[in-house]
Amino acid sequence: MTDRRIYLDNAATTFPKPKAVLARMVETYARVGVSPGRGSHDLAVEAGDLVDDARARIARFFGAPDPDRVVFAANASDALNTVILGLVQPGDHLVATRLDHNSVLRPLHHLAERGTISYDLAPFDERGFVDPDAVAALIRPNTRAVVMCHASNVLGTVQPIAEVARRCAAHGVPLVVDAAQSAGQVPIDMTAQGIDALAFTGHKSLYGPSGIGGLVLRPGIDVATTRFGGTGSNSGSLVHTQAYPLRLELGTLNLLGVIGLTLGIAFVEGLGLEALHRREMALLARLRDGLAAIPGLTLYGAADLDRHVPVLTTNVADVDPQDVGAILDGDFGIAVRVGVHCAPLVHRDLGTDARGAVRFSLGAFNTAREIDAAVGAMRTIAGPRSRTTG
Ligand code: ALA
Repeated sequence: MTDRRIYLDNAATTFPKPKAVLARMVETYARVGVSPGRGSHDLAVEAGDLVDDARARIARFFGAPDPDRVVFAANASDALNTVILGLVQPGDHLVATRLDHNSVLRPLHHLAERGTISYDLAPFDERGFVDPDAVAALIRPNTRAVVMCHASNVLGTVQPIAEVARRCAAHGVPLVVDAAQSAGQVPIDMTAQGIDALAFTGHKSLYGPSGIGGLVLRPGIDVATTRFGGTGSNSGSLVHTQAYPLRLELGTLNLLGVIGLTLGIAFVEGLGLEALHRREMALLARLRDGLAAIPGLTLYGAADLDRHVPVLTTNVADVDPQDVGAILDGDFGIAVRVGVHCAPLVHRDLGTDARGAVRFSLGAFNTAREIDAAVGAMRTIAGPRSRTTG
């Protein structure tokens, strides 16, 4: 085994984090790590200002008009629960897609099991894209929202969100977007693209720490409070604050996370989202081309890397993906994610649900040398047939 690890599991969490993000996060928290918005002393005011600045930066980053509609959450799953549970009433119908992650599918399944809602799922085509007309065709008079991923965490395909949004708007149905895999990878402008609610996490392509994410709302979409607690405002009342953003937040904020997320976004903006994405996609193309030349490998949804994030999922004929992952890790020091990636319906439709698949996902710190090492390792795992022909 090599002594230098190669990390190709950035769709789970980007790693490592930029050194400046980590250093400044700790330095800032050491200086002002108190409860923001609680108390009028200088430190609490300074911490509150940091949080306000973070909301403003996030609103700008996602093209949202109102920083007060930036609600912090633990991650994208948390934000999706907040918006889904806060939107639906008994008897409502929701539309999602078969590309979606369990962060969307499980809340829907839970609500449907309890008889609160019904839902339908739009399919994806053989290239990994959802047809906006297929989504629109599922909308009913009682459809409360369309909820769908922006980018698939298995196939990497970036969905035609603006086209879906146009159809949703025509039906008067809000569009809720799961941007876990796209935030920081592809430009998002909620106003221009017609996204009503955006759930994101900080620990992937925004280069923040885990445990912080958020929900961004366009004015006009109202989400009911479904969890209650301290907000630091109207403390004498037993009614949870109804003004945004505190309406959907409770308890002391993850200030360390908010600071890290802000620094992570600054890192992305500093290098340029498009430049980062272009570099990672060039490496993904190198990986795709290398893997495509190995006999016995199946690549899923990677024929065309346009409208993609740097995620590539594959299988080696006759080798269990769990074994592929273990060999990559143990023999080559290469970290990937195997299994069904919390997106069981994608794998069901690919026919890979029984064993799963092997996912490579890239980040800002990967190099061509690492990609070549991964291709070489996969050639070895695929066996003698590939070594003689590959
Ligand atoms: N949702 C993350 C992934 O796809 C954890 O790996």
